[in-house]
Amino acid sequence: MNMAKLSCLLYTLFFILCFSHPSHAIRVYNVVSFGAKADGTVDSTLAFRNAWAAACASADSSTINVPKGTYLLASLALGDCKSSDITFRIDGTLMPLWDGADYRNDYWLSFQGVTGVSIIGGSLDAKGPALWACKASAADCPTGATTLSFTNSKNIRIDGLMSVNSQMFHIVFNGCQNVHVERVKIVAAGDSPNTDGIHVQLSQDVTIMKSTIKTGDDCISIGPGTKNLWIERVRCGPGHGISIGSLAKDMDEAGVQNVTVKNAVFIGTQNGLRIKSWARPSNGFVKRVRFLGAVMKNVQNPIVIDQSYCPHNICPTQVSGVKISDVIYRHIRGTSATKVAIKFDCSSKNPCTGIRLENVKLTCPNQVPESSCRNAIGNTLGLVQPNSCLI
Ligand SMILES: *[C@@H]1O[C@H](CO)[C@@H](O)[C@H](O)[C@H]1NC(C)=O
Repeated sequence: MNMAKLSCLLYTLFFILCFSHPSHAIRVYNVVSFGAKADGTVDSTLAFRNAWAAACASADSSTINVPKGTYLLASLALGDCKSSDITFRIDGTLMPLWDGADYRNDYWLSFQGVTGVSIIGGSLDAKGPALWACKASAADCPTGATTLSFTNSKNIRIDGLMSVNSQMFHIVFNGCQNVHVERVKIVAAGDSPNTDGIHVQLSQDVTIMKSTIKTGDDCISIGPGTKNLWIERVRCGPGHGISIGSLAKDMDEAGVQNVTVKNAVFIGTQNGLRIKSWARPSNGFVKRVRFLGAVMKNVQNPIVIDQSYCPHNICPTQVSGVKISDVIYRHIRGTSATKVAIKFDCSSKNPCTGIRLENVKLTCPNQVPESSCRNAIGNTLGLVQPNSCLI
C-alpha cells in the first residue's frame, strides 16, 4: 500500500466515524452554561429558553441538564422543535419569578406541539399559598397559573417529578397522545382552591402510575375527549378524589371512553371514584370505565356518580344530557366517612346503564352504610355492601 492509498483509507475511515451517523449522537446541554443561576436570585428564563432553542435546532436526541439549586423562571412556553427526543434531567427546583398573588399568566411552564419530551426528576414550586390566601379573602385575585402543561403534544414522559404549591392545576395534558407519568409526587394544601393534581382532556393513551397526590381539588380530573386512560397505584388524599368530569359544560362535547383506575388508595378524601356532570344538555358521554381494586380510608363519598353537579349553588336547572354506560366497580373496599357510601344520581333523561358492582365492601364507623340511586340501571356480582339499589 502506498502512502497515497493509506492516507485515503485513513481519511475515509475518519469520515465514516465522524459524519456517518450524526443522528446517533446525544447532545447534552446544561442550562448553567446558557447563563442560568442556581442560587434562586436571578431570572433564568432566557437561559432555559436558549438551552431549549439550542437542543431544538437539530433533529438530534438531546438532554438538557438542570443541576442542583433553585432557578427562577417567568412563564416559559416551549415549542417549535426539530428534535423528537429531548430529555430534561432536573436535579434542581424551579420557582416562578413572581409571587402567586401577582402572577397573571394562565400557564407557568408549558409545552406546545412537541414530540418526545421527557422530564426526569426535578421539583416545581409554584408559590401558590399567597394566591390561595388572596382567594380566601374574597378579594379580586388573578386566576393563577397551571404549573406544567402539555398541549397538542405526543410521546411525553414524566418520571420522578415533584410539584408543590401550584397556584391552579399542577399538571395538565390537553390534546396529547401517548403520555406516561410515573413516580410523580404532588403536594398542595387540602383547602387550596382548584389545585387539581393531574388533568387530562382531549387526550388518548395516557398512563399515570405509582404516584402520590395530596391536594385541594381532584387528585386526577378527567375531562372531555379522554380515551384509553390507565391509572394505576395512585395514592390520593387530601383531595377530591379521581373524577371523570365535570362534563356537560358544553352542548358539543367529546366523550370519555375506556378509562381504567387500578389499585388506587384514597385517604380522607372528599370523593373516591367519581363521575360528575352538570345538569345541562350535552351530547357528551362516558363509557367503558373500570374501577378496579380501590381502597377507601375514611372517604366522604367513596363511589359517586353525580349528574346534577352543583358546587357553588349556581345550578343549571335542566337535566344532564351526558350518557353514562358500562362502568364496573370491582374489589372496592374500605371505610366511608358518611352514611351514603354509594351514590348514583343519574340523569332522568339519560339513565346510567350497565353499572356493575362486583365485590364491593364499604363500611361506615358507627353507622350502617347505605346506597342511594336515581335512574341507575345495572347489576351486582359477589358480595356488595352496602346493598345495591341499582335497578
Ligand atoms: C383501553 O385502553 C387501554 C389502555 O389504557 C388499552 O390497552 C386497551 O386496548 C383499550 N381498550 C379498548 C377496547 O380500546
